[in-house]
Amino acid sequence: MTTTEDRRLPFPRPNILELAPLYEALRREAPVVAVTTPAGDPAWLVTRFDEVKQLLGDKRFGRSHPAPEQASKINRAAVLEGPSGNYETEAADHSRMRRLLTPAFSAKRMNRLSGDVQALVDGCIDRMVAAHDTDPVVDLHALLALPMPIGVICALLGVPEEDAPLFRDLSDRMGTASGADAHAAREEFGRYVTRLAEAKRANPGQDVISDLVAAQAADETFGYAEMTRLAVGLIFAGHETTVNRIGLGVLFLMTRRQHWDDLVADPSRVNATVEEIMRLGAPGDLGLVRYAHEDVSVAGVDIARGDALVLSINAANRDPGEYGAAEEFDPDRPERAHLGFGHGAHFCIGASLARVELRTVFATLARRLPDLRPAAELDELDVRTGHITGGVTTLPVTW
Ligand code: HEM
Repeated sequence: MTTTEDRRLPFPRPNILELAPLYEALRREAPVVAVTTPAGDPAWLVTRFDEVKQLLGDKRFGRSHPAPEQASKINRAAVLEGPSGNYETEAADHSRMRRLLTPAFSAKRMNRLSGDVQALVDGCIDRMVAAHDTDPVVDLHALLALPMPIGVICALLGVPEEDAPLFRDLSDRMGTASGADAHAAREEFGRYVTRLAEAKRANPGQDVISDLVAAQAADETFGYAEMTRLAVGLIFAGHETTVNRIGLGVLFLMTRRQHWDDLVADPSRVNATVEEIMRLGAPGDLGLVRYAHEDVSVAGVDIARGDALVLSINAANRDPGEYGAAEEFDPDRPERAHLGFGHGAHFCIGASLARVELRTVFATLARRLPDLRPAAELDELDVRTGHITGGVTTLPVTW
């Protein structure tokens, strides 16, 4: 007799652009399958749209372990690296976080921010054009995808322009440095947030830090440490996710030229194009991690309380059962809803902002650089796989 242990798959980690055949087989043969995560922990990988969506909306599954002292390392390995950064908090903290941050993403704020986003995108494209004057091959990743989203987070938080270089440096070090340097960067960032909050107290604006300073006035338990955690969470959740969607989106459009030409000809296609980028380019590799808070059966598989599940929104978004010709990039498909921003209680709080960013990037590129084309073979590109958000690290283009 074989046991689940015997049948456990190593966690699949191919190139994010090559996940399709593997997911296809899993959805068909084993939509809930026992895997070992890269950190060596047991988990259930879930790949079909129906189960992934249902589990994301099911209160019997949570981001926190029902008995944290027994939680496996998957929490650190997957969730901390994940799109939602350090928000694997208990339910009470989670609803407090949502309450504190929700006003920052209101339609009114998004309207205000859209001007900043447009100015940032135009500034980046100006620098691409200037670079093109000396060398026709320009790295779109370094000059647009990477710098733009962090600039937007600065605007969201109310970081003054003169502090932007410091802010970028600290957020890079918090994200990529290891050990002591990451810790030092985090401490320095905490001091920066405190200074910024004091400045906003004297002179409030329409930004997250000003909102949080106002919340402090009403709640004396809300201190600078928590304010710093919320700001760090926004950087982790909102930066690399957006960087990688820009890179993947450009790749999708450059390798499916007709869709790029259609967008150039008709800018009103940008919203549908961005949703299709979000669907096919949803964070792949590791998915969203949840723990069972009760014994539950899912698609005929018994899941025990405390088990970890990895819900692959990338595999779900490519499920032919939901999308028909799911692997085709087709902005005109009728079923536009996808799980690229998650679903349920943890649905991406920054989705409205991410959409403004991506729409602005693709509309402005199509308008200003209609002859954009890749300056390298797709298979020469370094497509990162070791991270939940997966994406390119350089993107040479020309026009
Ligand atoms: C949550 C994706 C941009 C802030 C999430 C989740 C996903 C996601 C899939 C759900 C995580 C889960 O259920 O475990 C993305 C993608 C983005 C993006 C693909 C870019 C295209 C942003 C931006 C911000 C942001 C720009 C803010 C500046 C958050 C936060 C959460 C979250 C705070 C946690 C919500 C919660 O736990 O209740 N995001 N996100 N995201 N995202 Fe985003």
